[in-house]
Amino acid sequence: MKIVIIGGTGFIGTKLVNILRGLGHEVIAASPSLGVNTITGEGVIEALSGAQVVVDVSNSPSYEDKAVLEFFETSTRNLLASGAATGVKHHIVLSIIGTDRLPENGYFRAKLAQEKQIAASGIPYTILRASQFFEFIDGIANSFTEGNLVRVPSASVQFLAGDDVASALVDCALGAPDNGIEELAGPERLRFDELIRLYLSAKADIRQVITDDNVRYFGALLDDRSLIPDDHLKLRIAQTRFEDWLHNLSLRGK
Ligand SMILES: NC(=O)c1ccc[n+]([C@@H]2O[C@H](COP(=O)([O-])OP(=O)(O)OC[C@H]3O[C@@H](n4cnc5c(N)ncnc54)[C@H](OP(=O)(O)O)[C@@H]3O)[C@@H](O)[C@H]2O)c1
Repeated sequence: MKIVIIGGTGFIGTKLVNILRGLGHEVIAASPSLGVNTITGEGVIEALSGAQVVVDVSNSPSYEDKAVLEFFETSTRNLLASGAATGVKHHIVLSIIGTDRLPENGYFRAKLAQEKQIAASGIPYTILRASQFFEFIDGIANSFTEGNLVRVPSASVQFLAGDDVASALVDCALGAPDNGIEELAGPERLRFDELIRLYLSAKADIRQVITDDNVRYFGALLDDRSLIPDDHLKLRIAQTRFEDWLHNLSLRGK
């Protein structure tokens, strides 16, 4: 089967390309550095030609509110038009749990706009909303840091490993379209502040974590349900536990 991975050079895209190629599929890794650009349209029709499945794991180069909205709206519009023209049978996108619950977060607003375009496109689709990746804890901790203090809300979170996201996307790519939203979350529910404390302590980082529910997560105040799965949607649970991921990280000396 011919499968196109938009964002095939990115963090999740690279993993996905490798797994699907290992399974013997014809996989096109598509990204601007490989001559496929969903904003300008360069190379998109050629990449999609003859493909049954498109998986969009691209990301905006800028996270500024207006830029990120423009990126996901334009790139998704172009991609869906090319998919309709070339006869794509299944359009899959990686989105984020909570996109519909945090309108104050500009990135989440942009991902929700992307989801809505796909659902309205007429192309059979699957939207996989994942929770936050363990691999981004470092960056998130930095965004909460002032001096030696890390102020973190106590909201519940269910972080997961990037490898588990790629595995779930493989299942989606080889399965039938849902024409709906599925969610994928980590196996454990922790408090955000607790997660950051455990991470910093495992890395012998001397920063002190202070619990503070008035701190915004990329512009949005969190409540206890903001970032956890929606009870009404189909839920997949990722395998890798935080402790095991941390252990592997220390084995790799990071
Ligand atoms: N961070 C989280 O915790 C989280 C949680 C759930 C879902 N997600 C979603 O996961 C997705 C993938 O994230 P990631 O971290 O794997 O992304 P990433 O590593 O930042 O990779 C982004 C990819 O998008 C490509 N790209 C950028 N502009 C493009 C364009 N105009 N046309 C085609 N491709 C373009 C890049 O290509 P080049 O290499 O050529 O620049 C790169 O391959 C995102 O949509 C994000 O919303 C993230």
